[in-house]
Amino acid sequence: IYPDKINNLKDLEKKINKFNGSELKTTATKLVFGDGNPNSKIMLIGEAPGYEEDKSGFPFVGAAGKKLDQMINAIGLSRKKNVYITNILPWRPPGNRRPTNSEILLCFPFIQRHIEIINPEILILLGGTATKAILISDDGIMRLRGRWHEYNSYGLASPIATRAIFHPAFLLRSPGYKRQTWNDLKEVKIKLSK
Ligand code: URA
Repeated sequence: IYPDKINNLKDLEKKINKFNGSELKTTATKLVFGDGNPNSKIMLIGEAPGYEEDKSGFPFVGAAGKKLDQMINAIGLSRKKNVYITNILPWRPPGNRRPTNSEILLCFPFIQRHIEIINPEILILLGGTATKAILISDDGIMRLRGRWHEYNSYGLASPIATRAIFHPAFLLRSPGYKRQTWNDLKEVKIKLSK
């Protein structure tokens, strides 16, 4: 099912909408595809929609979304103008449980093609689930944050500079990690201005 003949977001969204291979589609209310500016230099990837996102059809609109907006604003950017946001999974796992590895694997061709179509300069992975899925690493977010990685895939002309940062929902629960996240965001800002 690798959707590599799909070359635009509209067709990718249609393809995902028609896909009936995931149980999650049957329990979710809405498909949560993406938000922001598709021509952005920065693409952010979260874990999966939560309650608010499932109701509205847009990623990061609940409490974690408000926090994410603050983080984006902190480096002088705006959600609508300067970033594009999506999730590893396009459907909400029931009760907001963690996505399973098999759910991630099943939907992986979609996020892979999503990244290829946006083709950003910088990829920011929000939290451990997105980081583990995209960087395919045994290490957790604590070890993977704080430095640059490269993400590459079949349909990309060149690798994308990638940064893993703490998930905004985690920062709401553990504000002690804000300083490290601020340092990570500053590195993103520096790279953008190069
Ligand atoms: N958490 C996520 O990872 N994604 C969302 O869209 C909302 C909350």
